[in-house]
Amino acid sequence: MPDERRLGLETELRHSVLHKVRRGLRLWWRGEASLRRVVNAGLCNLSLRWRLARVLGKPYFLMIEPTNACNLRCPLCPTGRGTLGRKTTFLSLGVYRKCIDELAPYLIEVNVSNYGEPMMHRDLPEMIAYAKATGSRVAIGCNAHFLNEESSRKLIESGLDQVYISFDGLDQETYEKYRVRGDFRRVVEGVKALLAQRTALHRTNPFVELQFLVMKHNEGQIDAFRAMADEIGADRRIIKPVSFNVADWDDPDTRKAYGEFFPDTEDYRVYRHEGGEWHWKKEQLAFCTAPWRSLTVLADGGIVPCCRDPRGHYTMGNVADGVLKAWNGARFRAFRKSMVERRDRMPICKVCPGE
Ligand SMILES: C[S@@+](CC[C@H](N)C(=O)[O-])C[C@H]1O[C@@H](n2cnc3c(N)ncnc32)[C@H](O)[C@@H]1O
Ligand code: SF4
Repeated sequence: MPDERRLGLETELRHSVLHKVRRGLRLWWRGEASLRRVVNAGLCNLSLRWRLARVLGKPYFLMIEPTNACNLRCPLCPTGRGTLGRKTTFLSLGVYRKCIDELAPYLIEVNVSNYGEPMMHRDLPEMIAYAKATGSRVAIGCNAHFLNEESSRKLIESGLDQVYISFDGLDQETYEKYRVRGDFRRVVEGVKALLAQRTALHRTNPFVELQFLVMKHNEGQIDAFRAMADEIGADRRIIKPVSFNVADWDDPDTRKAYGEFFPDTEDYRVYRHEGGEWHWKKEQLAFCTAPWRSLTVLADGGIVPCCRDPRGHYTMGNVADGVLKAWNGARFRAFRKSMVERRDRMPICKVCPGE
């Protein structure tokens, strides 16, 4: 029987330094991260605690976008809405390798996905294997449309540790309300193919998490989703309330579209809706830790502080010019300083619940 994670508003645990220290030591103890990586992560967390603009450690979590192209048109996703404002592109293997090479001694986890469908990149298994060879954990998030026997085998053989699969309905009708152009049967078959291949190859990885975005049209299906995820044999379920991208906070079209999707059940709402306005339920937005420990690389090699910047508003540099050069470069230092002193005036960050 798989367990379940509820993604939502509870961030206190993730923000506790003690929790991070314990997590680092656990990774080292289990042999999942070298002492050098754990010490580096510790330096990042010390820099965070002291709110240093120049971080003493190097980034240990990397999100890297193989492509910003997608087969689906999800109405609240900037890629799906066609509002990403970036040329549709595929990250070259050369740029990808350069990025991994620079960060290799420090990486604890790499997520090879961001805005777009990572499985549309033909070199994805090679990218995963390359990051795995550094000793880091590697994950992806995908919509499962390109999972079949062959692609699943390649993913498994690449050494992928974890896959998050968007699975937001129980039938074609509910699924395609949000996953526009999606084919629910392909999703189910894809997940089954991945799990069957994993068994056939006598592997335990990747760990497969099925994620259910709770929305108005599917909130009555949560129990049925649980039963289906268990029947298919997923390792874990994720129940996640729908939200809209913080980069689109002031966009009237996104706000209007969100009105169609936000659930009636209070438990699954992340916002209060008052006077025609949306507000986070949390009274105070948590302090964001991302710029002290992680980086996101976009498909054109652009470097941004986190995955909540889909349009590259806070571009800090490009992989071609050096990842570590950007990490403590003037722009990144100024960005961290602003995060500490005047986050309330920073686009995106001022309404972000934090990482
Ligand atoms: C932008 S997608 C990219 C990966 C892949 N294409 C997918 O859909 O899973 C990254 C994550 O955002 C989630 N997501 C999409 N729309 C969302 C929304 N409105 N609220 C919360 N999460 C959302 C997806 O389910 C996925 O887990
Ligand atoms: S499948 Fe993922 S990337 Fe594509 S439009 Fe939907 S949420 Fe965005």
